[in-house]
This record gives sequence, C-alpha cells and structure tokens, in this order.
Amino acid sequence: MNDHILRKQFLAHVAQTSPSPMLVEVARAEGSFFYTPEGKRYYDLVAGVSVSNVGHANPEVVRAVQEQAARYMHVMVYGELIETPQVTYAARLAERLPKPLESVYFVNSGAEAVEGALKLAKRFTRRTEVISMRRAYHGSTHGAMSLMGAPEGEEWKNAFRPLLPDFRAIEFNDFAQLERITRRTACVVAEPVQGEAGVRTPASGYLEALRRRCDEVGALLVFDEIQTGMGRTGELFASLKYGVTPDIMCLAKAFGGGMPLGAFVARHEIMDTLQANPVLGHITTFGGHPVCCAAGLAAFEYLLAHRVVEGVERKGALYEELFADHPAVREIRRSGLLLAVELGDSAKLYRIMELFKEAGILSDWFLYCDTAFRISPPLTISEEEVRESAAIIRGCLDRL
Ligand SMILES: Cc1ncc(COP(=O)(O)O)c(C=O)c1O
Repeated sequence: MNDHILRKQFLAHVAQTSPSPMLVEVARAEGSFFYTPEGKRYYDLVAGVSVSNVGHANPEVVRAVQEQAARYMHVMVYGELIETPQVTYAARLAERLPKPLESVYFVNSGAEAVEGALKLAKRFTRRTEVISMRRAYHGSTHGAMSLMGAPEGEEWKNAFRPLLPDFRAIEFNDFAQLERITRRTACVVAEPVQGEAGVRTPASGYLEALRRRCDEVGALLVFDEIQTGMGRTGELFASLKYGVTPDIMCLAKAFGGGMPLGAFVARHEIMDTLQANPVLGHITTFGGHPVCCAAGLAAFEYLLAHRVVEGVERKGALYEELFADHPAVREIRRSGLLLAVELGDSAKLYRIMELFKEAGILSDWFLYCDTAFRISPPLTISEEEVRESAAIIRGCLDRL
C-alpha cells in the first residue's frame, strides 16, 4: 500500500499511546534486524522489550507455529483439554526451573501472569497486603499497575485511581526496609533485576535477605521474570543466577518465542488452591494458546540446543567494553544482555534517539529512567553484530 495512505490510516485508526510514535514501517524482520519496505535495515536493540530472544523469524519457531496452526488452534477455554504443546512446554520448563516450581498456569501476557500471581498469593495466604518495590513495572492492568510504587509510579497511576487497596512499596536493595514485610503480607513482588527502573541489579545478599524475611513472616515471594527470564541475564532465569527461588515465578515476553504467552508458576501446594473455594480461581480463554505454546516451546528448545544462554554474558560484557570509555557515557548498568547506557541528561537522550533512527538503530529509554538508552538485542546476536552496532552507536554518541 502507498506509504502515505498507510501512515494516515495508522494515525487515524490504530490507537496511539504517545503523541510521537516512531512511524517506521516494518516490512520484515530476521535475526537481529528488521527492514522497512525501502530496504532500510535497523539493528533491533530492543527485541520487542526482551521478547525476541531467539532472533526474528527463527526458522525453528516459524516451523513450529506453521505446523501447530495447521494441526489445531483454539479449541476450548484453558485448563480442560489435554493439548500437547502446553503439556510438553510445562514439563520441559519444570525440568529447568529451580525446584520445587513445577505447576505452570499459562496465560496471555505479562500483566495477566502478575494478576494470577497476586490472586494466588492472596488465596493461599488468606492475607491482603501486597508489597512491591519502588520503580517497579509489572504491567498496565489495574492490579499490576497498583504495584508501581510511590512516588515514581504516581505519574502513571494517578489518573486511574482507585486502584487495589493494601499495596505498599519498599526501596529495592534497602535491607532495613525489609522489616516492613510482616505477618500481614500476602506476598512481595520483585523483579530480580529491575528493568524499567533503568537496569538495577540486586545488591549482594539482598535477594537472599528478602527470601529470608518472607520465610520468617510467612509471606510468599513472587519474582517477576517477565523481562529477566529465558536467558536475558546470562542464566536461563535470574532466580538461578542469584540462587534465590521464589514461591511464584511470573514469565512472559520471550517465553512465547514471539507469540503472546505468559505464565505464573508455583509448587502444587500453592497452585492447587485455585481449584477450590472458589473453583476456577483464575479463568482465561486464550491462555496457553496451542500455537503460542508451540512457538514458546520451540524457542525454549532452541535456547537449550544451541547453548544460546552461554554466550550472553560474553556479548553483554563486550558491549560494555565497547562503550565504557566514551566521554558521553556516564555509567553502564548491566545484567547479561540487558544494558542501560547512562547519559545523565534527558535532552541528550532524546537527541540520540533521533540519531539512532537515522543511523538504523532501534533503542528505547526506560519507563522510570529517561536519561539512559536500552540495549537488549536478541540473545542470538553475533559478536560481529555486537561490534558493528556498537560502532554505529559510538558514531551517534560522537555527534551528541
Ligand atoms: C518486568 C515486567 N513485568 C511485566 C510486564 C508486563 O508485560 P505485558 O506487557 O506482557 O503485560 C513487563 C513489560 O514490559 C515487564 O517488563
């Protein structure tokens, strides 16, 4: 279709969430790149916000989608029929998750996984208080949004009140504030590495202390691994990297291999409470869609078979090394292939986004941090591509 007409229709009929969308048309995507209809190549250094971990148009994922779509798509609301892609994925996942996480509830998205985890924690503990971390992002539904701490989360939450009651936030990495987790607390929800805060890694011993405090007071620990899971931090799950096992883990994004899929995972003792009082404790029509599960499973198998996760730390460190000495770079915060390159100035950040667009780099800033740009490419990016994209970025940094 004519470029001009498409752009007009986009603005007229596709709901907008910001006054200044990028307006770059995607014709196709492959590996670490996407291309416009004119053939302009962009390095995808966002990967759909940590979604495309096995690269765009990964042939094994594409094949799995095609085969499953031809076999059967949606049949019945979640949880009634035995569907092979769901069962196989859940079983394969359980082999790799820290024990005793074993029961997988498939849903449609990250926010729904978080909603499920909140409901499950309330149902299991029969408590109501929920504690989250300041500068947390767990999704945009009412429940997930209630987890955005104050004061930083106010900008996003305020217009949508009333939100859920009995939610409060503590400071990530502040050991003293763990005292605020008490016998009233149903659960504490945390990203093991805070993503939208601008990549904040846990202080040494913090996640262990958080786990201990939850155990002391009988609160459940929920890890949101929606962004950190599926290899992003250099281990299959950040829980494994930091050696701390939550009671409930939330997954989404790369979990679906590019298709919409999420899950909350717990041990049977906890998960099984959704079966009674009331029965059907969480209901979802499309959760665990067979095509999405087939895609997620193929992506998961690809990560394992090609030992993709083993290269993540090396490639993340290479990016860091290639920028660290640039005078415009104040700091680099990183976990695996999730990097925040801190410029210390939002005007510079906006400017570099324009330069990136020209130069064929897709990056982004963070919800709570508009002074740093994101590098979170497909985990399959080659070292050569890391070097080439870093050189393009350096060229943009030079022009700041
Ligand atoms: C850590 C984290 N949790 C939850 C979500 C929400 O996921 P979704 O957009 O699929 O609802 C996101 C999305 O960016 C996220 O980064």
